[in-house]
Amino acid sequence: MENMEDWNRRELVDIQGIPLFWGMAEEWSQIETFEARPDDLLIATYPKSGTTWVSEILDLIYNNGDTEKCKRDAIYNRVPFMEMIIPGVCNGVKDLEVMQSPRLVKTHLPVQLLPSSFWKNNCKVVYVARNAKDVVVSYYYFYQMAKLHPLPGTWEEFLEKFINGKVAFGSWYDHVKGWWEKRKDYRILFLFYEDMKENPKREIQKLLKFLEKDLPEETMNKIVYHTSFDVMKKNPSANYTTTPEWDMDHSVSPFMRKGVSGDWKNHFTIAQYEQFEADYQKKMKGSTLHFRAEI
Ligand code: A3P
Repeated sequence: MENMEDWNRRELVDIQGIPLFWGMAEEWSQIETFEARPDDLLIATYPKSGTTWVSEILDLIYNNGDTEKCKRDAIYNRVPFMEMIIPGVCNGVKDLEVMQSPRLVKTHLPVQLLPSSFWKNNCKVVYVARNAKDVVVSYYYFYQMAKLHPLPGTWEEFLEKFINGKVAFGSWYDHVKGWWEKRKDYRILFLFYEDMKENPKREIQKLLKFLEKDLPEETMNKIVYHTSFDVMKKNPSANYTTTPEWDMDHSVSPFMRKGVSGDWKNHFTIAQYEQFEADYQKKMKGSTLHFRAEI
């Protein structure tokens, strides 16, 4: 691919105070006017919180556990990333326009930036949240391998940016709190990465109930197996290895990196931990949203 330096590693651009990729900012009007359909299922997450994992689970549920059908295409084509627009290269809005219903739609947008058609159509939403310390570690590696992001700097520098919300899709704290509050008024199933690690079958049951769907026990077990980290890591239609190297460089860090809870302990110094926690208490004060930072 030529001229990849033209669109990679550019500075983020603020849209209503939220740093986004330049292409999204340039084409914001297309995103804002996206036409949701009543039977869309929206998968909303802050980056690195288990989006791909829950997407694979949901595509399997939609296809009654048919693992071969779910290898028909890469996950980013089966579940298009709505706001991902790089002019002349890719356009999630356009991809979704030509997709048959029922669609699975991925977004990382904070709740206040979601196109209003999702609310007007009362679409169901599955939100997956992951504890902040594991998210920032995962995000740090992802910034290095996925070249649309600006360079992350050192771990210390990146941690600072994350705490201040100066990363793509903005503040983790505002993102999770915003979607958590919204669930009171709309059809939002709020899941946690840590719960999915602890008991994936239980979380799949929650998804089935939310979708008003039934699957035999045997199919559920098949979905649990097929979406385990080790199996997904080897599955080219789920592990992002089919993206070109100018986009993602898996030799820097694989997309399917570790898939555990608590890896933050291998990265935070004691001083960083203490500073992070003190700031966390302030930012999350008053919220009923609680996370487990290990399981
Ligand atoms: P790590 O970098 O901590 O390994 P997203 O899909 O939102 O970008 O999230 C990516 C994170 O989810 C990565 O975390 C990735 O390894 C992890 N992940 C992907 N599939 C998973 C699975 N089946 N089980 C557990 N973790 C998974």
